[in-house]
Amino acid sequence: SVAEKAGYKHFMLKEIYEQPRTITDTITGFLSQENKELYEKIKDIQIIHIVACGTSYHAGLVGKFWIEKFAKIPVIVDYASEYRYRDLVIDDKTLVIAISQSGETADTRFAVLEAKKKGAKLLSIVNVVGSSLSRESDYVLYTYCGPEIGVAATKTFTAQLITLLLFSLKSALSKNLISEKYFEDFYHDLIKLPSIIERELKDIDKKTEDIAFKYHNAKDFLFLGRGLNYPIALEGALKLKEISYIHAEGYPAGEMKHGPIALIDENMPVVSIIPKDNLYEKMLSNIQEVKARKGKVISLITKGNKEVIEISDDFIEIEETNENLYPILTAIPLQLLAYHIATILGKDVDQPRNLAKTVTVE
Ligand code: G6P
Repeated sequence: SVAEKAGYKHFMLKEIYEQPRTITDTITGFLSQENKELYEKIKDIQIIHIVACGTSYHAGLVGKFWIEKFAKIPVIVDYASEYRYRDLVIDDKTLVIAISQSGETADTRFAVLEAKKKGAKLLSIVNVVGSSLSRESDYVLYTYCGPEIGVAATKTFTAQLITLLLFSLKSALSKNLISEKYFEDFYHDLIKLPSIIERELKDIDKKTEDIAFKYHNAKDFLFLGRGLNYPIALEGALKLKEISYIHAEGYPAGEMKHGPIALIDENMPVVSIIPKDNLYEKMLSNIQEVKARKGKVISLITKGNKEVIEISDDFIEIEETNENLYPILTAIPLQLLAYHIATILGKDVDQPRNLAKTVTVE
């Protein structure tokens, strides 16, 4: 009913709009739990394996950047369905992190249980309290989102990102790689996010809908990003595929020249995630290559960036912040873009065909 959706047309839209609150709750919830044992254990962990499916896998890919950057532990990220059937090299200095909204996804559960049997420690990041994975793990970090009804994950994705970021910073603290002061400064930037997102939602919802109208007839979409925003390109493409049934691909922009650039013509919308971060200049030259081949460039930029606006057909602006936090801010416009395209096309956004919210069979 409309009441359950708090006046929103769909659960997905309601859940997108809940993000300022779910991010606040996830930060607060995270900091209210000490997890002493975990941060003691982290000191002798030599490798981390992140295992997940779907959107949770994309959160893992972002997590890898933060963990390697702050906690200085090498990370591999794998799809659970692949991880389960590989010859895993594991010992008691391996930490496996399972990421799962539901905590019930069969592929993820059985993959990490196998690793646990071989001696790895198991940490899970889950949204559902008391779920199978939370019971099967040595350590649990929760996302505090409440129930997510829309099949396409939205608020739990950004909460997973927050959790992974805080986990990497806490691990770094425990290993004495960063100072308390560094952590506090970071925290100061982090707690500004919810109000930035509130403004962002107000600013961009209509704009995103206009862009959706303009491009909803496209047969294919390309999403490009680099570094921390490369997994967001994958997630943007996944959201669009899931609910609008338009073919979309996410790609690391620097890899374009090795193949996908052949796809670009005047019919191809290319969503470029290009905030002002350490890879900005690289990303800019990648977009110029797209433009030179007449692709339609839709850019996600830091507010007022004229240099990118000039070469873009359309653009969506996000506020300037700590560059580590951009993936959270860039994920949200892509959720809205997929939502608006799907609703314009008259698709059932909350219950897309062939998909289940939680897949409890292999
Ligand atoms: C299903 C859902 C996806 C989700 C994936 C993993 O395929 O449709 O939205 O990302 O499962 O779910 P989990 O609960 O493990 O995060």
